[in-house]
Amino acid sequence: MKLLLLTPVFILGFLLNGCPGHTHDDEPAGPGGWLKGDSQQKFDTVARQLGGFSAAMRDVGYRYIELYWAGTDGNWDYASYQAAKIGSAIEDGIERRHGRAESAARFLNNDLPVMKEAIDAQDRDIFMTAFSSFTQACNTCHYAEDVPFITIEKPVERISPVR
Ligand code: HEC
Repeated sequence: MKLLLLTPVFILGFLLNGCPGHTHDDEPAGPGGWLKGDSQQKFDTVARQLGGFSAAMRDVGYRYIELYWAGTDGNWDYASYQAAKIGSAIEDGIERRHGRAESAARFLNNDLPVMKEAIDAQDRDIFMTAFSSFTQACNTCHYAEDVPFITIEKPVERISPVR
């Protein structure tokens, strides 16, 4: 009886997928069909293209620079915005590369909240002092994660048109 009820589902599935053995799953996707293989292979390709921790860090590097100039300008809303985005970029990074989670936890639970508090104080001197410690926290993680050659220093130039 159960089987009888499911029969229309099988027929529908057959009609949608065409001949058995060639499922919709295998069809190339994306412009020009650059994503090939079954769903699993396509997901793997997308995951590789998305990048790992360095992709998150490029984002963090940009936002760190923006954070600095936001504080310099006394644009506290923009500073808060960038601090929050630094947190979510690192969280996305550890979701992709879990091996970095332990070092990231210290930064996310201690260093970033301290920076956020300094932003909330809306005072340039407090901000600059906190920004120096924040920069050290970046470098502490780079040492811990075996990339000591990536040394972060206070930005010297503006790179975005935001004022
Ligand atoms: C969880 C530890 C951790 C924290 C915290 C961290 N980094 Fe990184 N960072 C790394 C690792 C690991 C790499 C190298 C990535 C790789 O090997 O794929 C890196 C690489 C970078 C790069 C080079 C990216 C590239 O490929 O061009 C920049 C820029 C950077 N980090 C900036 C920062 C800044 C700024 C901060 C602080 C706001 C920071 N990082 C905090 C671990 C961290």
